[in-house]
Amino acid sequence: MSWNTKLTKLLSIDYPIIQGAMAYISDGVLAAAMNHAGCAGVIGSGGFSADEVRDSIRTAKDILGNGKCYGVNLMLQAPNVDDVAQVICDEKVPFVTIGAGNPLPWFEPLHHAGIKCIPVVPNAKLAKRVQDAGADAIIVEGMEAGGHDGKVTLMALLENILPDIEIPLVAAGGIVDGRGVAASLIMGASGVQMGTRFLLAEECHLLHPNAKQAIINANDTDSVVCGFTTGDSVRGLRNKFSDKYLQEEYSGAPLSTLTALSRGTNRKGAIEGDTENGFILAGMSLTHLTKIQPVQEIVEDIVSETERCLANASRVI
Ligand SMILES: Cc1cc2nc3c(=O)[nH]c(=O)nc-3n(C[C@H](O)[C@H](O)[C@H](O)COP(=O)(O)O)c2cc1C
Repeated sequence: MSWNTKLTKLLSIDYPIIQGAMAYISDGVLAAAMNHAGCAGVIGSGGFSADEVRDSIRTAKDILGNGKCYGVNLMLQAPNVDDVAQVICDEKVPFVTIGAGNPLPWFEPLHHAGIKCIPVVPNAKLAKRVQDAGADAIIVEGMEAGGHDGKVTLMALLENILPDIEIPLVAAGGIVDGRGVAASLIMGASGVQMGTRFLLAEECHLLHPNAKQAIINANDTDSVVCGFTTGDSVRGLRNKFSDKYLQEEYSGAPLSTLTALSRGTNRKGAIEGDTENGFILAGMSLTHLTKIQPVQEIVEDIVSETERCLANASRVI
């Protein structure tokens, strides 16, 4: 049975669940598996050349056939952003998620190419601005999320943003199961975006097995943010690298030292599997992530748990 939210309608999917873009990791294979399971996957562009993004899009298209839903992430700070945007337009990707910069100038060219624009926003002011400028939906990402973070929790963001938003709002950050999905829907979100949970998908084949095992081993208190004081916060698992970085950060090391320390650590963790000297990006909800499963099974678990939670919620009053 499929669900009915503004997001399921916008993206023509059965369940309002988006697998968020993950630099170096989320490719066309994972995005296609998400769509087979009734959801939407996002191909990352971070860490990939424009040609690699094109290959990934074509992989998703080959697996899925025509007219199916998947997205591509446009990282506005990436040096190859123009080339990636061109590929997205050429390939007529169904939707883009846009982050790390001002998304407004991108709406017109992307809409012109028939592509839906879904910016990732970390505060209420930007949420209102992108809605007024014609965004098709927004992803509201709390500081619980894996990867680059804002400074506000998801709960506070939803409280601050939901009353002023009419377009579909997608909640992200720290959601790994049906409880989080149900809570977001009850609050008024039209769907969720999850990253960390899908790192443990079988189809998440680019992530090194050591990194998967580190996520399985981790608990809530193993989550740290590097760069909170520099304005470039990145959340991942505590390890030798993060201990060193945080020691330097909080003893006032210059930005150049911190930048040199963190350079290449995402790739080192995710692709090379160096779980001590690389940074394994992951969100704060870790304790109950204990096994690797096919995407289909993960989605079925989340869907049935959400349905159980929503049924229980209606019995509260
Ligand atoms: C390993 C990893 C890499 C990520 N890379 C990106 C990225 O390149 N672009 C982006 O917009 N978001 C990125 N994110 C954020 C996710 O798309 C998603 O919003 C986030 O994972 C949601 O929080 P969660 O990890 O608690 O589920 C990344 C997240 C992770 C865990």
